[in-house]
Amino acid sequence: MPQIEVGGAQPYTVTVEAGVLGRASVPHSRVALIVDAGLPAEWVKRAEQAFHPELTIEVPSGDACKTLEVLGGVLSKLALSNLPRDGAVIGLGGGATTDLAGFAAASYLRGVAYYSVPTTLLGMVDAAVGGKTGVNLPEGKNLVGAFWPPRAVWCDPELLSSLPPAVFREGAAEAYKHGLISDPSLLPRILSPGFQPGQPGFEQTLADAITVKAGVVTRDLTEQGERAFLNFGHTLAHALEAVTHHGVSHGDAVGYGMHYAALLSREVGGADLSGHTRRFLEWQQPKSLPQLNFDELNTYMARDKKADSTGVRFVLLHDLARPYLERVPEAVLRSVFEVWQSEVSPAQNLSF
Ligand SMILES: NC(=O)c1ccc[n+]([C@@H]2O[C@H](COP(=O)([O-])OP(=O)(O)OC[C@H]3O[C@@H](n4cnc5c(N)ncnc54)[C@H](O)[C@@H]3O)[C@@H](O)[C@H]2O)c1
Repeated sequence: MPQIEVGGAQPYTVTVEAGVLGRASVPHSRVALIVDAGLPAEWVKRAEQAFHPELTIEVPSGDACKTLEVLGGVLSKLALSNLPRDGAVIGLGGGATTDLAGFAAASYLRGVAYYSVPTTLLGMVDAAVGGKTGVNLPEGKNLVGAFWPPRAVWCDPELLSSLPPAVFREGAAEAYKHGLISDPSLLPRILSPGFQPGQPGFEQTLADAITVKAGVVTRDLTEQGERAFLNFGHTLAHALEAVTHHGVSHGDAVGYGMHYAALLSREVGGADLSGHTRRFLEWQQPKSLPQLNFDELNTYMARDKKADSTGVRFVLLHDLARPYLERVPEAVLRSVFEVWQSEVSPAQNLSF
């Protein structure tokens, strides 16, 4: 049973094991469970049998739950049930649900214990580990939140069996990114037919992808340095999500964004790792992109918190597992955009 330790002021363990949800428990007598309303009833039943919550709060599926309104409703239910300061909140769902549940735990009574049971691949390899919690505002994503690390995380690969295949492949982008920036052994394993829940070796690959994130956030919880490398591929990805009004999912956008970052790395530093990101896109089969305009995308990239007047700061790669930060001038962003677009546009058909 792979167990990953996450360090910091309040260390915790991430357990990765098929069936672990049935064996999980928490040392609190009073517990509230927050669940994604779209989950199969069987997963909610398993969590209720494990944690014996006094209330289960259903929230809308996906990012529809990450609003101040839904947060307010959840906090009112916690207050009406008189959940005490030594009670606990448990989140069961994808990254959206665990972001909301973690923030509800961080803010209710100025903070109660939080536990996480991610149910998507993205939730397991990324969102549930590292303590970032929060909700969106109409003005933008994740604009309100807190660092509130969980006390424990249980990743039960059995829960992934009900995920739509496209959602599974979207989540794989973050796992592949962990391979590119830190553990290249992950790359062929993620692209192999064995990267499926229930296949031998799946649990270990999942655990190794989580280990990359656990290591980074242990060393740099609040993104003063190394944590920024987790943004590989995300500068273009966030812009793609914004210009398409989230018509492109986060995971698909990260797949596209990693390929752009690899092409930029080749242009700026000479190392050509774009074969890896091209192979990932062929495997991921993201939704095809609409016609895109560089200037519009660049407006969003320039708004990125890593931008200043000399250019947008990108995470690039000197080599596999050798990320670095570099400001890239607009002229380079534009010329590489043309190359990237010629490869990924549906007209060219990169076999998606
Ligand atoms: N906190 C962080 O560090 C961090 C990191 C990355 C992403 N995020 C956040 O994570 C969110 C995206 O998370 P996500 O990709 O996990 O998607 P999600 O939470 O939006 O869920 C996607 C869909 O999958 C469904 N679903 C979830 N688990 C299922 C299961 N086991 N079986 C069947 N259906 C299931 C949900 O109902 C939903 O419709 C975004 O809000 C993003 O901002 C947070």
